[in-house]
Amino acid sequence: MARILTGIQASGKPHLGNVLGAIVPAIKLSQDPENESFLFIADLHSLTSVKNPKVLKENTKAVAAAWLACGFDTDKNYFYRQSKLAPYHTELMWYLNCLTPFPMLANAHSFKEKSDKLSDVNAGLFTYPVLQAADIVLYQAEFVPVGKDQKQHLEMSKDIAAAFNRTYEEVFVLPESRIDETVMTIPGTDGQKMSKSYNNYIDIFEPEKALYKSIKKIVTDAKPLEEPKNPGTCNVFALYALLGSDEQVSLMRQNYEGGNYGYGHAKKALLDLILERFLKEREVFNYYMENEEALETKLAEGEKKAEVIAKKTMTAVRKALGFD
Ligand code: TRP
Repeated sequence: MARILTGIQASGKPHLGNVLGAIVPAIKLSQDPENESFLFIADLHSLTSVKNPKVLKENTKAVAAAWLACGFDTDKNYFYRQSKLAPYHTELMWYLNCLTPFPMLANAHSFKEKSDKLSDVNAGLFTYPVLQAADIVLYQAEFVPVGKDQKQHLEMSKDIAAAFNRTYEEVFVLPESRIDETVMTIPGTDGQKMSKSYNNYIDIFEPEKALYKSIKKIVTDAKPLEEPKNPGTCNVFALYALLGSDEQVSLMRQNYEGGNYGYGHAKKALLDLILERFLKEREVFNYYMENEEALETKLAEGEKKAEVIAKKTMTAVRKALGFD
């Protein structure tokens, strides 16, 4: 049994790029009977940038609803808000802070990048990787699937955990990052990587009309209806190909190459495909967004389960420190 853990920033409603690039692969991993997945919303980390409680709450809700909508099994796995277990995360973070060399944090490229760019350079931004290390070792996670941008943070987590084991006792499992190099880059409406910051995303949880509007924004060339079109260079086709069955995709290819098939047709077909493919996900998402209590219940259950593990680790940690 491998214990897998991932933290998700509470940065708003996940879009198609997040769903295909992160949520679906993580859920697949969690479905392996050999695995046990810890998935949490890193809302303490979000405080480094989000200062509006309402926004943070809304974001957390949307992220949680999206993961549930995509089928994360909360009975088999662990699903929780970091803030609800804050006493454990932050207490452990303090102990780890005292084992973390200052230059390690000062040289972190994520910190350097953020401190160059942001006007609010707070201490939370600086110690962000230590909280992340606490998130991981608190649950004795073995594997942490992350994107390439998190590689250095994971190396720090492992170093910090090893420092604790060396200085005190072997309390922590040393976590390994799992960087999936095959992760798909999902093109946005302008052909660049789909991203919230480029404002080129498609929100599959939106009402149909708004969804169609964002699909209509997908940039294409200006070939007239009659002319054959090149599926290999078309953003609409690229998204269609990511979602459709082999049969649907080969049919669409024929449409493109045959002529008399316009981008308007292709966009309508993409809309229909999204509505069909994510029918259940859209329903479940809306259910949780509208039934706050149901969402709260799910998370509270997960938090109770997670607390059992966190408590156990912290008992061992305090004992190792001589605080028992
Ligand atoms: N820093 C991660 C990100 O921005 C989020 C995160 C917080 C995380 N704690 C974690 C990821 C622990 C993996 C493990 O994506």
